[in-house]
Amino acid sequence: MSDKKVTVLDVQQAKKDGRKLVMVTAYDYPFGLMADEAGVDIVLIGDSLGMVVMGLEGTVEVTMEHMIHHIRAVVRGCKGPLVVGDMPFMSYNTSIREAIINAGRLMKEGGCDVVKLEGGIDFATTVEGIVKAGIPVQGHIGLTPQTASALGGFKMQGKDAKAAMRIIDDAKALEDAGVFSMILEAVPAPLGKLVAKAVSVPVIGIGAGVDVDGQVLVTHDMIGLFDKFVPKFVKQYTKIRPTIINALKAYKDEVVEASFPGTEHSFKMSDKALEQLKKLMPS
Ligand code: KIV
Repeated sequence: MSDKKVTVLDVQQAKKDGRKLVMVTAYDYPFGLMADEAGVDIVLIGDSLGMVVMGLEGTVEVTMEHMIHHIRAVVRGCKGPLVVGDMPFMSYNTSIREAIINAGRLMKEGGCDVVKLEGGIDFATTVEGIVKAGIPVQGHIGLTPQTASALGGFKMQGKDAKAAMRIIDDAKALEDAGVFSMILEAVPAPLGKLVAKAVSVPVIGIGAGVDVDGQVLVTHDMIGLFDKFVPKFVKQYTKIRPTIINALKAYKDEVVEASFPGTEHSFKMSDKALEQLKKLMPS
């Protein structure tokens, strides 16, 4: 977006200006630095870290402590983009009070700028409570991975007219509750367009077609670092995994055959010091 820190107001202005927002995930300091250097608008420390970093089956096991740990690392590298901390499952689901306390912890202990949580109409009062406490909230509707099992798995949402209307109603409820933007995941492209038209806040799509206000992808999917499961909506801009494995294999071979380290990777000692050392050593 620019050299200065991206704010919530900048994100909202982007929709008014018809400028697409660029959002990616990051989970540690090096990826925070790279996202910053690439000039993206928004960096999300998503609870997708459960799968792509921790090797879990889903996001349900991710805790507040995991999130705070990873947010702190990303924030150190990420000076320009707006940094979003994802609220993990059950950190906002039991009461508005607990939701406010946990949203506050992500900001105070993690250092993120704003928080994100999953859910539509059912979570509108929770969103309202957090926003009233002074914490900007990004919504997340359509496919909501934390409750994927209740939605029938990691499937496209809003397939028929009734289900699609529910998603539009979710978007409107979140807007009324005060979100500054929302994620829309895994819905038919025409529905993505309708949702973006229905609300005045930016709708950032992931598998929601091109006619939304911006795009987000999980970085580890997009660069082919995590390829156990590649959703239909992911474009792999590179396949970094084989490159890394080949480097590790080359290193392994060179260690085994003693061709690494060579002289260029070894420290020297003067002939004089070596002679003196040999004399000091017991024969
Ligand atoms: O956790 C995450 O990475 C997300 C993105 C899929 C938007 O919520």
